[in-house]
Amino acid sequence: MSQDLAPKLGKPVSRFAFGVMQFGGKADATASAALYRRCRDAGINMFDAAYAYTGGQAETILGELAEPEREKVVLISKCLTATGQRGSEIEAQAAESLRRLRTDHVDVLYLHRWPGDELLDEVLTSMAALHRQGVYKVLGVSNFSAWQVMKAQARAEALGAPRIGALQPMYNLVKRQAEVELLPMAIAEGIAVHVYSPLGGGLLTGKYAAGAAGRLTEDAMYRDRYAPAWMHAAASGLSAIAAGLGVDPATLAVAWAAMHPGVSAPIISASRSNQLEPSLAALDFDMTDALYNEIAALVPAPPPATDRLEEA
Ligand SMILES: NC(=O)c1ccc[n+]([C@@H]2O[C@H](COP(=O)([O-])OP(=O)(O)OC[C@H]3O[C@@H](n4cnc5c(N)ncnc54)[C@H](OP(=O)(O)O)[C@@H]3O)[C@@H](O)[C@H]2O)c1
Repeated sequence: MSQDLAPKLGKPVSRFAFGVMQFGGKADATASAALYRRCRDAGINMFDAAYAYTGGQAETILGELAEPEREKVVLISKCLTATGQRGSEIEAQAAESLRRLRTDHVDVLYLHRWPGDELLDEVLTSMAALHRQGVYKVLGVSNFSAWQVMKAQARAEALGAPRIGALQPMYNLVKRQAEVELLPMAIAEGIAVHVYSPLGGGLLTGKYAAGAAGRLTEDAMYRDRYAPAWMHAAASGLSAIAAGLGVDPATLAVAWAAMHPGVSAPIISASRSNQLEPSLAALDFDMTDALYNEIAALVPAPPPATDRLEEA
């Protein structure tokens, strides 16, 4: 089974997606329009939003920008902002997302997180109804573990929801958990994978070693997520490799995440246009196997999902 989303969507799909989590936040409407335009000029047609982002501003701004060329772009959104939400809340969120995005359907609709065992059937029943109504084409799940994906896949089939066709896990040089179960599963099951935070929220740009401010100094969740000293050491190591090659560390970080055979597209992002260029440069960067391995060796590989290490 292929991981390619294009046949399921009936339109071409770019090699990278752009995430609009900063639209209406750090990027005002003017900055968001510049980011959108630059992505389109670089050939990107996939835009990743969520009901939860910036109180709805992200979807609203994206909807305004994409409306004139709706059929050319792949609009992605997410519902279910918190574990425990009922099916009716999810259906209301999806309806509001369509209104904000100025469209009658999104191409991919993700469950943003695991609904909880008790509510899984109720949530998938709502996703089945939304699919019958044409609200979305491909069902995705984000922040699920592999067993949760496969459990949801089985329940989706039983409840008349479509097959899960897209995953959205965190994945970057210092967050490699997805390599253990999710990415091999996605290859085996023919599920597209859009990985988020390819720059580790900005850590892998090297700017924090230089004392700069940004998400990791301003947002406690991100500061804690990327707190371990070994992650900062890896970012410095990546910067040193990049300096030796005369490229931006962000270019290497994005190209590295995109290189895994299970990754369909990294979701790049930026708060300003000038931040975007190094990530876009990864589209044309020639990552050799030797360089990939040199970068991978900056961090410990995640342990395999078995204790029979002699067979792994
Ligand atoms: N499904 C989920 O739960 C989930 C979670 C997170 C993200 N996402 C999606 O994935 C997208 C990307 O995630 P992400 O924003 O975490 O990606 P990321 O690429 O790891 O981080 C992007 C951030 O890094 C900083 N940055 C980027 N380029 C830079 C440069 N050249 N120099 C210095 N700083 C730079 C900026 O933050 P500062 O300016 O603040 O430093 C920018 O907002 C989001 O927009 C969203 O669509 C999904």
